[in-house]
Amino acid sequence: MPTHLRFRRRSFLGLIFFFSLSTSLLYFIYSAPGIVNEYVFMAQATGIQIRENVKNIGAQVLEQVVRGAYSVNGTDYSYDFNLSESDSPPPTYLPEGFTYLPSQVCPDRLPSMKGRLEVNMSEVSLEEVERSLLESEPNMAPGGYWKPKDCLPRWKVAILVPFRNRHEHLPILFRHLVPVLRKQRLQFAFYVVEQGGTEPFNRAMLFNVGYKEAMKDLDWDCLVFHDVDHLMQNDRNYYGCTDMPRHFAVKLDKYSYMLPYNEFFGGVSGLTVKQFKKINGFPNAFWGWGGEDDDLWNRVQFANLTVSRPHGEQGRYMSIPHHHRGEVQFLGRYSLLRHSKARQKVDGLNNLNYSPIVSRRPLYTNITVSLSRKLAPIADY
Ligand SMILES: *[C@@H]1O[C@H](CO)[C@@H](O)[C@H](O)[C@H]1NC(C)=O
Ligand SMILES: *[C@@H]1O[C@H](CO)[C@@H](O)[C@H](O)[C@H]1NC(C)=O
Ligand SMILES: *[C@@H]1O[C@H](CO)[C@@H](O)[C@H](O)[C@H]1NC(C)=O
Ligand SMILES: *[C@@H]1O[C@H](CO)[C@@H](O)[C@H](O)[C@H]1NC(C)=O
Ligand SMILES: *[C@@H]1O[C@H](CO)[C@@H](O)[C@H](O)[C@H]1NC(C)=O
Repeated sequence: MPTHLRFRRRSFLGLIFFFSLSTSLLYFIYSAPGIVNEYVFMAQATGIQIRENVKNIGAQVLEQVVRGAYSVNGTDYSYDFNLSESDSPPPTYLPEGFTYLPSQVCPDRLPSMKGRLEVNMSEVSLEEVERSLLESEPNMAPGGYWKPKDCLPRWKVAILVPFRNRHEHLPILFRHLVPVLRKQRLQFAFYVVEQGGTEPFNRAMLFNVGYKEAMKDLDWDCLVFHDVDHLMQNDRNYYGCTDMPRHFAVKLDKYSYMLPYNEFFGGVSGLTVKQFKKINGFPNAFWGWGGEDDDLWNRVQFANLTVSRPHGEQGRYMSIPHHHRGEVQFLGRYSLLRHSKARQKVDGLNNLNYSPIVSRRPLYTNITVSLSRKLAPIADY
């Protein structure tokens, strides 16, 4: 019985409690009379934020109800309602002015990694971001390929970004993330895998394609599966692969910085190349959004791997607000998830066919594929 299909009723009630708490807060804000303009503005801004949260949390309640319908045993599910940020003693970072030699392996806790990051979500053109990032580092090679020169990179990291119809998000992500990865002294490149055709968005299959194409360039050590709209808020969230499998995006602003459920593996996650091969990659059978990250979680469990997460503040992300632009939800996900184990052997890297169009941009490799169900045939599950 995969653990994701169980949940604890007590926490479920907690979620409903939180849901109604937010709603009454919203009511309070809108009913408070006679406050000065500045406060009205602030209250409205907060109201919008809360409404957004209520919507998201409402969706999660629904998610859990649906999950519950498939649950054999209504026990043993825990939510992370603990807002305390002091999980464990903070790891020590190297002191300011610490020096290393070009012949040494780069440290992974560099003094330049200061912690909390500002997030700039204002729109900007790709050309402008290309110009400014190449100006600050003329040695960046096409495809967003970079490696440090003052030390030997500890890890070679391919960042895979599934993509469709979000052109304004891409430059925001690069403007934010590229300087962080340089500070972390990683060797990296970006692969933007764009889905053409008219089939529903298949995030998981795009990752499989991205992986296969990336490995043609270089023997990468680790893979980071990165949604285009996720912006990290802490540069100590290290994208190297010491602790893989890793779930990087633990606390999202859209979920009020709480882990929505313990098996949540979405947003930004990572595996070593070896692990990814071992679990036969992502499933190809998830058309539309939802479920594919849970299936990956299951695959990781079946391989007896343990997922790590950054502690406390380090796992915080903001997401660029957007609408689901006609992307459909994948309603068949729960029945597929029940057969995760059987499907793992037949659906993934080993049944994947595709014909990509690959081109290099200064900051990323563009892999465009038209996906269809015929490209990854499996028996019905
Ligand atoms: C359901 O819960 C009972 C008691 O906690 C346990 O003995 C049983 O193994 C569980 N069944 C499944 C399918 O997890
Ligand atoms: C929340 O986390 C803190 C720090 O790890 C811990 O001391 C505290 O007991 C936790 N609270 C709950 C309700 O789990
Ligand atoms: C955000 O980005 C824009 C465009 O790149 C820039 O003009 C602006 O100064 C940035 N804002 C902050 C606070 O850094
Ligand atoms: C995982 O661990 C279980 C129990 O220890 C074992 O039976 C199983 O073969 C292991 N699976 C893999 C893929 O190593
Ligand atoms: C990728 O390339 C295709 C042409 O092959 C183009 O239509 C598309 O806009 C490009 N996507 C990105 C994100 O650059």
